[in-house]
Amino acid sequence: MAKINDNYLKLKAGYLFPEIGRRVRAFTAANPSAKVIRLGIGDVTRPLAPAVLKAFHDAVDDLGTTENFAGYGPEQGYDWLINTIIEKSYTPLGVSLKTEEMFISDGSKCDCANILDIFALDNIVAIGDPVYPVYNDTNVMIGRTGEANEKGYYQNIVYLPCNEANSFIPALPTGKVDIIYLCFPNNPTGVVADKAELKKWVDYANANDAVIFFDAAYEAFITDPSIPHSIYEIEGAKKCAIEFRSFSKTAGFTGVRCGLVVVPEEVMGTTTLGEKYSFNKLWLRRTTTKFNGASYPVQRAAAAVYSDEGWRQTREIIDYYMENARIIREGLTEAGVTIFGGVNAPYIWLKTPDGMTSWDFFDKLLTECNVVGTPGSGFGPSGEGYFRLSAFGNQDNVIEAVERIKKNLK
Ligand code: MLT
Repeated sequence: MAKINDNYLKLKAGYLFPEIGRRVRAFTAANPSAKVIRLGIGDVTRPLAPAVLKAFHDAVDDLGTTENFAGYGPEQGYDWLINTIIEKSYTPLGVSLKTEEMFISDGSKCDCANILDIFALDNIVAIGDPVYPVYNDTNVMIGRTGEANEKGYYQNIVYLPCNEANSFIPALPTGKVDIIYLCFPNNPTGVVADKAELKKWVDYANANDAVIFFDAAYEAFITDPSIPHSIYEIEGAKKCAIEFRSFSKTAGFTGVRCGLVVVPEEVMGTTTLGEKYSFNKLWLRRTTTKFNGASYPVQRAAAAVYSDEGWRQTREIIDYYMENARIIREGLTEAGVTIFGGVNAPYIWLKTPDGMTSWDFFDKLLTECNVVGTPGSGFGPSGEGYFRLSAFGNQDNVIEAVERIKKNLK
């Protein structure tokens, strides 16, 4: 009989969002008249920007013509998309990148998971706690960890607690680690790191020959001009950081699927024999072997995000979500709830009232207010006692959800 990958059995529970979905389905089945408002998973609700939609349609039409038909594209993405992203999104930050350093994909979740393929299993990994669960669980799946302890911490992972005392910004690891996951603006806490903070991490990584996985999926939601959008704005980062970006939240592509990874040529690792080797070469090899590229119409739609019209329309949608964030932040603050995030990020991280557990508060909001959020403990043990609300909802629903919560907590 074929043997299974036992590492999967170490995983403590089902993936967080399907678990929330199951509970919500059970509730709505039992209460069919309840008008449930979903502010749980960070899934967008606004339609695609018209300029993006048009480019998408036009590209589909291309596929129906002999002259413009597109078959397999380059596995790592079309140059016209990569060069547009570099020119419109990195050059203005003072960051220069080569076309060969960027790889277009079908989304950032897969990239964050797949990148582990090109790193040896005996690397020591550090991740924040709470954290986007994909970082933790994919390390378990690939076999880098031992079992979880009773708190939910896996052996061989260095956890960096993020709490009120450190303003949800982790401290540098006390020992040497080889891979560090950073996510700013942060999912789930919504906090951001300034340049001085990121410099500490880049200096640590360069001093310890470590690689930073920098998840910048939410960079478009930064409102404070002093906050960096890319880790490459920090001196020395091109030697030690791999950056992930996503069109999911920036341009409403959660259902369309498009992301990107930047692997600068200077980021090096060592072979078992101690020779230096470029991660860029390995990622290219992996990509060309295991992936056939994001689809042509999707890449055309992604490129249209950066047209003048596309970007203006996309910004309007981002502003709409950030207005939701303000409504949630201010409304719940009025209700006496302690709030974090939501200023430079589309997530509001709140302290559960009266010391309730995260899941108890989830059940209370679901059953008493018919509002769905995400329990903080689902993002790691240090998330216990916290709760995340997403700003990606429809604005009328967001206003109603806040009113219901305010009334309930009075
Ligand atoms: C979230 O709600 O944390 C995100 O939507 C999950 C994701 O991007 O995969």
